[in-house]
Amino acid sequence: MTERTAGTVGFGHGLTNYGDRDFSLYLRRSFAQSMGYSRAMLGKPVVGIAYTGSGFNNCHRHFPELLEAVKRGVLSAGALPVEFPTISLGEVFLSPTSLKYRNLMSIDTEEMIRAQPMDAVVLMGGCDKTVPAQLMGAISAERPAIMLVAGPMMTGRHRGERLGACTDCRRFWARYRAGEVDLDEISEVEGRLAVTAGTCAVMGTASTMACLAEALGMILPGTAAIPAVHADRLRAAEATGAAAARLIGSARTPNTIVNARSVENALRVLLALGGSTNAVIHLTAIAARAGVKVSLDQLNELSDATPVLVNLKPVGNGYMEDFFAAGGMGALLRELKPLLHLDCTTVTGETLGERLSSAADSYVDRSIIAAREQPLEPQGGLVALFGNLAPKGAILKRSAADAKLFEHQGKAVVFSSLADLAARIDDPALEVAPEDILVLQMSGTAFGTIVLHVTPDAASGGPLGLVRTGDRIRLSVKARRIELLVEEAELKARAAAAKPNLAKPARGYAKLYAQEILGADEGCDFAFLRPQ
Ligand code: FES
Repeated sequence: MTERTAGTVGFGHGLTNYGDRDFSLYLRRSFAQSMGYSRAMLGKPVVGIAYTGSGFNNCHRHFPELLEAVKRGVLSAGALPVEFPTISLGEVFLSPTSLKYRNLMSIDTEEMIRAQPMDAVVLMGGCDKTVPAQLMGAISAERPAIMLVAGPMMTGRHRGERLGACTDCRRFWARYRAGEVDLDEISEVEGRLAVTAGTCAVMGTASTMACLAEALGMILPGTAAIPAVHADRLRAAEATGAAAARLIGSARTPNTIVNARSVENALRVLLALGGSTNAVIHLTAIAARAGVKVSLDQLNELSDATPVLVNLKPVGNGYMEDFFAAGGMGALLRELKPLLHLDCTTVTGETLGERLSSAADSYVDRSIIAAREQPLEPQGGLVALFGNLAPKGAILKRSAADAKLFEHQGKAVVFSSLADLAARIDDPALEVAPEDILVLQMSGTAFGTIVLHVTPDAASGGPLGLVRTGDRIRLSVKARRIELLVEEAELKARAAAAKPNLAKPARGYAKLYAQEILGADEGCDFAFLRPQ
């Protein structure tokens, strides 16, 4: 890459407005020189690095080392690497939930990419909401960008058993509550669930989003599943830095890489992974920033024609380190090849088809990544449901559910909030039978046969808030229905009697959030962030 001195690239890009362009450039160079850069370095194009290391984000603990590797790659390709901080979202350190702050992080990412003088950007993310936030922001910023994900944690060991966050967190906690594990053992387990840097070790939201970022073409091929502490992760970081420098001046911006066809590829991958239901919301939001609509009807059509191929927890047996060793995303994409749009261009400039035509890395461990002819399940891991309980849809993780409950009718036992659930669920006086249906009217997480992302939600006045203990609910996966078996007139009376939620936030981000948040069917983005 040749050195450039014109005022339109590198530090000369997007000048501060002092009314005199030459003065603005002179002043910026002067201040940049205070950071010790030579004039030769200041003449180079700049690769910004959106850096999300944080003391409140254990999943990004290794980012200082990764950052050095990214910078090495940028420099080797002839550009100047400049990192800048953005909001970081560490899943378990945020109250009330990390999703509330995803859009705030996307705004921060978008505006800092746009406002600062960079010719391309590396997005360093990983923990659950950081990957969608960065992709959403970068798509809207329309500047050349490439993502580097944190990579998953390695598993720990407890009394001969492999443990990984966070499927095993819930499993052990349930055993502790049931009295099968004592206080000493649960304390031991606490120190063995999350034992290295990196994102949760199972196919949870973070790993699903990393794989979808690769399916979309926004990260380097084969890098989604490399463990956080593996030396290959550092090599991927170096290669990502070099690839970012090569993107400078390119028209391959994220808003072109993410399009209807690459989004469909990502949906196929999500279904074949048996991935997180949250990923449907995030992918919907990411796609919408590029003007692409993801509908739940489309999800169902693809789900009917996409097999589940990946055998990882929380649905199956393995952990992310096994997926990497089994062949990772390359192996999965090769299995799905006949179902994918191979003409999609990735961030490297190569098409997906060109990538998959290479014979390299052809090893596959069939205990982790099944052949398409012998799938784990013939249909996709997720299915969308509709009905009077979810007029705009809801999602069932079919691959994690008990098939005996796919056609089921039961009595509702309603909990109004997580606090209500915690207060009553272990009460021996709670009237509940195995065939009953537990209803939580505020969001939470769970596993097993569970219908999630019911839209509109109770807080938005959706029918979920009108369910009462004793009502009958009917679930039919075959008919894609979830119905509340209560007369329409009775529901209208309940709605009329419902007290409006008067506690609207008066100020700050909470107020903006309450005013602008869209439903799960629109990715929970803010209305004003969608392309106009
Ligand atoms: Fe960061 Fe799970 S807590 S990915």
